[in-house]
Amino acid sequence: MFKVSTIFRRALTTRGPPIRLVAVARCKIEKLLYRGYGLGRTKGKALLVPRSAPGDLLETHIVESHRSYDIGKIEQVVESSAARVEPPCTFYKQGCGGCQWQHVHYSEQLESKRAILLELLERAHVLNPSIELEVIASPPFYYRARFSLRVTRRGQTALFRERSHEPVVLDYCWLLPDELNGLLQTLQGHPAIVGCHSLQLWINEQGQLGLETFPPLPKLKALELQWVIEPVLLLHPLLATRLVFTVEGLRYDVGPNSFFQTNRYLNPRLSRAVGDMAGSGDLVFDLYCGIGFFSLAVSLQFARVLGLDKNPANIVLAEANAIRNGRGNVSFLLADAASGLPVSEHADCIIVDPPRAGLSPKLLQEISERGPKRLVYVSCEPPTLARDLSRLKGFYHPVKTILLDLFPQTFHFETVTQLQHLD
Ligand SMILES: C[S@@+](CC[C@H](N)C(=O)[O-])C[C@H]1O[C@@H](n2cnc3c(N)ncnc32)[C@H](O)[C@@H]1O
Repeated sequence: MFKVSTIFRRALTTRGPPIRLVAVARCKIEKLLYRGYGLGRTKGKALLVPRSAPGDLLETHIVESHRSYDIGKIEQVVESSAARVEPPCTFYKQGCGGCQWQHVHYSEQLESKRAILLELLERAHVLNPSIELEVIASPPFYYRARFSLRVTRRGQTALFRERSHEPVVLDYCWLLPDELNGLLQTLQGHPAIVGCHSLQLWINEQGQLGLETFPPLPKLKALELQWVIEPVLLLHPLLATRLVFTVEGLRYDVGPNSFFQTNRYLNPRLSRAVGDMAGSGDLVFDLYCGIGFFSLAVSLQFARVLGLDKNPANIVLAEANAIRNGRGNVSFLLADAASGLPVSEHADCIIVDPPRAGLSPKLLQEISERGPKRLVYVSCEPPTLARDLSRLKGFYHPVKTILLDLFPQTFHFETVTQLQHLD
C-alpha cells in the first residue's frame, strides 16, 4: 500500500550536526485520529500525517521517527480524498494551529469524531451493544462565545503555528462571530494590550462583547483599555464587570477568570442534555460546577442541588447566579473534587464535568462506593472519558452518549454520557 521511494542523507559531514535520515513515503490515509492526524502506514508502522484526509494518497516526508509511529509532512497529494475541501481561512493555509480539519468536509469531521469516540469506548471495553449514541452538529463557523489568543511583545494578536510555539499573527478568525473579529481588529497591535501575554474575547447571545487580559492590567492601564474598547466590557477583577448570558431562560453572569461553555449555538442543547440525563430526585451533586451552568439547569428537577468547584471566582459567581435566578435550593462549595466528596449525604445523581485530566482515582472510588443511581459524565477529552468509564465498570454501565460538536474545524468534541448503577 505504501512505498518508501527515496531515502537521503542531510549534512553528510563528520564534524557537522548529527546525520538525520529523512525518508519520503507514499501512503494511503485510512482515517482521522484524535489530536487531528490522519493515519497511514509505512511497512506496517503507523504514519501520522497532519492536514490529511481519509482516502488521500500522499507523498510524505517523514519528519519525526518514534518507536511505534512516524510523523509525516505532506509533499504531494497524489490522489485527493473525496472529503477534501478548500479551507476558507488564509491563516490556516499559512499553518495556524487553531484548527486542524478545515480542509475536511464538515460531514466527514462529524463522522470521524463519531468513529473516534466509538473506537475509544470499544478499546476500553465499555461499548455495550445497547448504548445509544446521538451526534449533534453545530454551525461549522462563527460559533465561539469566547476565544483565547496570545499577545506578542509588540501587542499583536496570534495563535500558535501547528505543532509549535511560534506565533501566527492574525486579525481574523473563521470560528468567531463578526463582532468578535471587529474587536480583534481594534486590538491588533494596539499599545493598550502591550504587556499582556494573552486575551480572552467574549460574546453573549445578545451580541454584547467582553474582553479579558492575562495577567489583568494595572488599574490605570485597565481604565485606558476600557476607554479604547467602549462599549465592550473589560472583565477585570478591580472593575467588578459582569457579562450576562441567558441559556434556556436562566441568567448566568460571568466575570474575570470564570468559565463558560464555548459554543454559542449548542449551549442550550448541552444544558438540556445534562438536564434530561440527570432525571429527578432529592439531591444532586454537580462536581466541577463552574459558575453553576448545570446546577441551575437541573434545579427544578431536584429538591436540592450542591455544586462544587475549586476556583473561588466561579463559586462567588455561582452563588450570585443562584440568587438572581431565585433558586434557593441550590448551594455551592469551594472544594477540590480530586480529593473526593466533601459531604457524606447520599445523592440520587452525580454530574461530573472535569477538565481534560478526568476524574481522580479517589473520586472514582468514592462515587463507586456511594453508588448514586445515575451518573452524568460531561467530558471534553474522550480518551480520559473512556479510561474513567472502564474504571467504573462493575459499578456503572453507560446507557446513552450524546456527542455534541462544540468545536467544528478542530479535532475536539464534547460528550455527555448517562451511566446507570448496576444493582
Ligand atoms: C470544564 S469546566 C466545567 C464547568 C461547568 N460544569 C460548566 O459547564 O460551565 C471545569 C471546571 O472544573 C473546575 N475544576 C478544575 N479542577 C477542579 C478540581 N480538582 N476540583 C473542583 N473543581 C475543579 C474548574 O474551575 C472549572 O470550572
